[in-house]
Amino acid sequence: MKVTSIDGMGSYGVYIDGVDFEHLTDEQWREIGHIHMKSLVTIIRDCNLTCENQLGWIRKLGEPRHGLYYRLMKKYGITSMGLLVRLGLSDTSGIDAEDKGVIREHIRYQQSTSEGAGIARVSGIKNDKGLSTGLFNDGELLWHSNEAATLTFVPGVALLGGKCMVGSSTGFLQTADYYESVSESFRSELDEMVLTHRYTEGKINPILNDNLGRSNMCPVDGAEIPMVIMSPGGIKGLHYPLNTVYGVRGMSKAESDSLFAEINEHLFVDYYIYDHWYKNDGDLLLFDNSITLHRRLGNVSGRLAYRIQHDYSELQDDFWQPYFQKEFADKYKEDITDFVETLGIQSFKLPQAG
Ligand SMILES: [Fe+2]
Repeated sequence: MKVTSIDGMGSYGVYIDGVDFEHLTDEQWREIGHIHMKSLVTIIRDCNLTCENQLGWIRKLGEPRHGLYYRLMKKYGITSMGLLVRLGLSDTSGIDAEDKGVIREHIRYQQSTSEGAGIARVSGIKNDKGLSTGLFNDGELLWHSNEAATLTFVPGVALLGGKCMVGSSTGFLQTADYYESVSESFRSELDEMVLTHRYTEGKINPILNDNLGRSNMCPVDGAEIPMVIMSPGGIKGLHYPLNTVYGVRGMSKAESDSLFAEINEHLFVDYYIYDHWYKNDGDLLLFDNSITLHRRLGNVSGRLAYRIQHDYSELQDDFWQPYFQKEFADKYKEDITDFVETLGIQSFKLPQAG
């Protein structure tokens, strides 16, 4: 196993070569997990992981999870995810038509394996009814993070190439170096800043035909999340998902926009950005979804990738608190506890009582 730093991603990002999943030990995988938490973006090149075994390995980092199931279970007072799915698929149940559409779409994108559920296909390949079998079925994807406008967003993403990956890229922008580079006084301002979020169609991909967009990215307009947070690996940076960021609490729209323009000028620079243009189908990309943005460029025709959104609980000794501002730290504790209990995620490290 060889770890090399990714050239062109500032202080973060590593490639790992020579990983053989058939002979990998749990200890070696944990080591990779810890390297990943410190590097934000970890690209395991040309490996022999298959989608059949992906879930098992990722579960050893932390459980997969989806905010949309939590939200719908709360909305309808349903305590089992299995029941929610059954009601979503039933024509006669009391679930709203729009929510049924979201559940059905999400289920259609699932890759089932003998290890269980939790893998979503990312693909535009159509089924025999002409419907897309994966998320993000076409075009380039602009800078975004997943579950961007939710306080309890999922912190990690594992994307495994399936086929026709060459000719496209997955790109990353890490915000940690930028955060460290600004003046101390501006950094204190950023620390206090709270961003407001709003769903705007076309902000991820202007041509995308995907009803899950709002539900996944910004179910509630006006949601507030602090600008500066801490990644699961303890790195401070910006939670600044361009797909949903709308304004700054206490600022007019014009003031917010001019601040964003100033930040963008210094943040979206080559030094912090790395676009990984695939050279093989079998790359496994592990990426931070807290203070790192991602995007997709290039040609995606015939492309198929497998995505798991997950926690890092198995690598953490204690509860991970992303927020520094008390108001949000308290709310996060409450929200994530309810989230984890509702979905029955056993491995999650919840905050200690008191
Ligand atoms: Fe994404």
